[in-house]
Amino acid sequence: MAYEGQWQTEAVGRLGIRVPIVGAPMGGGPSTPALVAAVSEVGGLGSLAGGYLSPDRLRADIAAVRELTAEPFAVNLFVPTPVEPTGEAIEAAQRALEPYRRELELPSRPASTAGPWAEDFEAQLAVVIEERVPVTSFTFGLLPEAAVAALHDAGSLLVGTATTVDEARAVVASGADLVCAQGSEAGAHRGTFLGAAEQALVGTLALVPQVCDAVDVPVLAAGGIMDGRGVAAVLGLGAGAAVLGTAFLRCPEAGTSAPYRRALTAATETSTAVTTTVTGRMARGIENRLMRDLRDLDVPPYPVMHTLTSELRRRAAERDEPDLMSLWCGQGIRLGTDLPAGELVRRLADDAAATIARLTKAAGR
Ligand SMILES: Cc1cc2nc3c(=O)[nH]c(=O)nc-3n(C[C@H](O)[C@H](O)[C@H](O)COP(=O)(O)O)c2cc1C
Repeated sequence: MAYEGQWQTEAVGRLGIRVPIVGAPMGGGPSTPALVAAVSEVGGLGSLAGGYLSPDRLRADIAAVRELTAEPFAVNLFVPTPVEPTGEAIEAAQRALEPYRRELELPSRPASTAGPWAEDFEAQLAVVIEERVPVTSFTFGLLPEAAVAALHDAGSLLVGTATTVDEARAVVASGADLVCAQGSEAGAHRGTFLGAAEQALVGTLALVPQVCDAVDVPVLAAGGIMDGRGVAAVLGLGAGAAVLGTAFLRCPEAGTSAPYRRALTAATETSTAVTTTVTGRMARGIENRLMRDLRDLDVPPYPVMHTLTSELRRRAAERDEPDLMSLWCGQGIRLGTDLPAGELVRRLADDAAATIARLTKAAGR
């Protein structure tokens, strides 16, 4: 089957892509420039995960994507969360992490207890504006008005993440051009920024049509989509394209570490859980010892706790100890494959088209 087919959703048109497939931004390593370019090159939209990158590294990664493809791609940014943790909260968290640091033969305390807790958002934003990135996506909140105007002036299309209808409305009111509705099946951090994260665990099947009814911009659907059936399903719900993260984690182009890949290959639909204590923000991943042990801990908010645990999670990956890593992934994990990203995008588009054709035939159309 000709994988590009005739995909004429408004989202496909606005994003300038050829198939309704978006490779989700995956921070912490998986979203390499090679993965982003491979998705874009075959007509999908690859996404660089800019949130954890220094401004210099972000600029270099954008250049690396452009070396590999002339097609549109997205850069994802984290809207900063203002936090003022107390010294006591930081020290309590550090005390709780000491046994794991000892186990991993790390020095007993991380070098800094005073931050900075995140990369310089304004500097990251300046890079995205200067580089005139075709699509900018954001999560964890809303972009400031001036940033929306500057990105639009630079020709960037804006995609904001929402986990509820209220958030979707707020994303649109802030000036975003598209909404990404992130269902609770999704891997890694939840984008929730209004109300309690526990109340915002709405599944993709329920969330997408309610968001589509509430907003007048194209909606992208994320969470648990792993194959052509999932892509067809969310198009049926009213989404203009499907956003897949977990499905790309095992691609050879992804920067996923060896122990992470092994854990993904062995995981099933019951292997994941959501945690709020590993990083201070709700996230879904394979449940392991780190997640279980920290479950009831009172921790400083994201991104403070994220920073406090990041060194030990990185070290655990280097030492091939998946039980102390973060193994972020979504509930669709059993459907994962090791296909190269370009082939996966083609297969997703072909299978979605075949599913839609089968349904059309079954309906006697
Ligand atoms: C390993 C991993 C890292 C992620 N990092 C980011 C990120 O940096 N920014 C972001 O907006 N979303 C991030 N996400 C969430 C994705 O954007 C998307 O919502 C999710 O992957 C969709 O669900 P799925 O994993 O079931 O396909 C990440 C997801 C995964 C699996």
